[in-house]
Amino acid sequence: MSTQQQTSLEALSNELRRFEPPAELAASANVTAEVYEQAAADRLGFWAEQAQRLQWDRPWDEVLDWQPPFAKWFVGGQLNVAVNCVDRHVEAGNGDRVALHWVGEPEDDTRDITYAQLQVLVSQAANGLEALGVTAGDRVCIYLPMVPEAVVSMLACARIGAAHSVVFGGFSAQALVDRITDAEAKVVITADGGYRRGAPSALKPAVDEAVQRCPSVTNVVVVKRTKQDVEWVEGRDLWWHDAVEAQPETHQAESFDAEQPLFLLYTSGTTGKPKGILHTSGGYLTQTAWSHWAVFDLKPETDVFWCTADVGWVTGHSYLTYGPLANGATQVMYEGTPDAGGRDRWWSIIEKYGVTILYTAPTAIRTFMKWGDDLPGQHDLSSLRVLGSVGEPINPEAWMWYRRVIGGDRCPIVDTWWQTETGAMMIAPLPGVTATKPGSAMGPLPGIAVDVVDGEGVSVGKTGGGFLTLSEPWPAMLRGIWGDEDRYRDTYWSRFEGQYFAGDGAKWDDEHVLWLLGRVDDVMNISGHRISTTEVESALVSHPKVAEAAVVGAADPTTGQAIVAFVTVKGNVTDDDDAFREELRNHVAKEIGAIAKPRQIVLSPELPKTRSGKIMRRLLVDIAERRELGDVTTLADPAVVQEIDRTMGELAART
Ligand code: WTA
Repeated sequence: MSTQQQTSLEALSNELRRFEPPAELAASANVTAEVYEQAAADRLGFWAEQAQRLQWDRPWDEVLDWQPPFAKWFVGGQLNVAVNCVDRHVEAGNGDRVALHWVGEPEDDTRDITYAQLQVLVSQAANGLEALGVTAGDRVCIYLPMVPEAVVSMLACARIGAAHSVVFGGFSAQALVDRITDAEAKVVITADGGYRRGAPSALKPAVDEAVQRCPSVTNVVVVKRTKQDVEWVEGRDLWWHDAVEAQPETHQAESFDAEQPLFLLYTSGTTGKPKGILHTSGGYLTQTAWSHWAVFDLKPETDVFWCTADVGWVTGHSYLTYGPLANGATQVMYEGTPDAGGRDRWWSIIEKYGVTILYTAPTAIRTFMKWGDDLPGQHDLSSLRVLGSVGEPINPEAWMWYRRVIGGDRCPIVDTWWQTETGAMMIAPLPGVTATKPGSAMGPLPGIAVDVVDGEGVSVGKTGGGFLTLSEPWPAMLRGIWGDEDRYRDTYWSRFEGQYFAGDGAKWDDEHVLWLLGRVDDVMNISGHRISTTEVESALVSHPKVAEAAVVGAADPTTGQAIVAFVTVKGNVTDDDDAFREELRNHVAKEIGAIAKPRQIVLSPELPKTRSGKIMRRLLVDIAERRELGDVTTLADPAVVQEIDRTMGELAART
């Protein structure tokens, strides 16, 4: 655990502020305090009851088959995920309800899509995919901006039993190659481009470059969004409007097994290669739907929900596509950046659509804090009633600001802890039940078993800090890493016997309230995005002039952490060569994506190492965070450290 984590840990134990649930919300809340007792008394019975919220074509024979660490939930049950998210709402008479208020980045570029319309769109896309030979069990890669077709494509895959692998539009061609190849995707769905900060930004060129190296891909379907010029490979490429919109408007959906793969989502671990996290159908949809309904107190008839995450991340999967649509919610989907069309864009969207529930990330909240109270103050945000946070620890100041300025001191805040691997929320308050503390996700949700253990895997009980583990299987848990059973076992289940190790530190405070303290491994959290230090190091050393690279995540007031790289070069490059630093940053963007560009790159003739040759990362973090270094004279080469520290100081002074 880092010194920074320890300091914040002490500060947190003293947090005495508590915010009770608003009386009105508590009185009409979807769930009450009894739900905890009910789930504790019969965990599997609790989840079975929640699964009944879905429409099953065949009931399950057994709730859970647990062969550690492999779980099957709702064994023998059959359902169609897309039917659950779309068709059944139409059949229930809610076809006219808006499913998506889509807001494009260019102003006035909007589209409202009802559930009945969504049913047609998904059916056409399912027919279109089948016409391209996609069948149940195949993989489809989705590389799209935040346009309705992204959600439609995901649901179309689900409808025909194909697994999607959504790749965030900010990833590079190389990242696409890795993901398409690992998944052996048959079809890629992309767009000519998307809008980013007022300008069209191309997507298709990355796909063209990638697919040349991906023999598994037979077709590329292209949504026309920005009308940019695109290269075209005859026979391989098809326009969405030809391949999909010309298809019949109905599609006969089949039932699939509860354990039918629903999607793969690649995420960074402690080693270089991203892992394809596998999620399946029945358990995943049960937990995403239940948690979305309970933690946001969703009332589908009246609420307008807005999750600001991109569909390229797990939050966009679970709380934009699957959870909300399974619940028949009306939601906002926004294409652009928070400052497109003005720094009050979000607040004008909330005002216009009467958003009642907002789900976003601490990094966004901190950015808005910097932009000042005036901008939200210029808009009527009184429709809001519940505020959510996800992706990284939320610092108490940001929590208080969110509550006061956005929530008008009346909306409860639900800080939700979970991961790509957990599929759905695991630790969060319930807005009508829990009195919350600023900055804490409070405790495990009903039906979820967490523990905090010491280095030996021994539970610390309900006092003290250590490593966060999950001690019982849960319905939305990952079913494995695509094609790598051993890696699944090693990564998650080997550190502590019989327990899932989350990679996060956590602590119980004196009142048995749980605080999440961030990653304890080599995974960085940049604006809520997971990037591993090794991944960035591998990208850097793949540059012909780089000899060695060490990458650390340094605390950053806005993005949570920022990437700082320490690099030694082959031959002569001087340490003030800004052009070379820029070249390296661009190289990382090419290898991984712009989100992985280091904030600073320190060029140095050597890296500080222990006598056994290990890079002293802790020291590099101290340097990157501009901490007092103390006595370095005992190190193998103190001059190296002083030189690196000096260069870092210069770079830091410039930003
Ligand atoms: C971090 C995002 C503190 C954590 C849903 C976790 C959080 C990683 C919180 C997963 C939170 C997520 N408080 N930390 N409320 N939510 N994290 O896979 O370190 O992109 O391990 O899933 O984000 O990131 P991922």
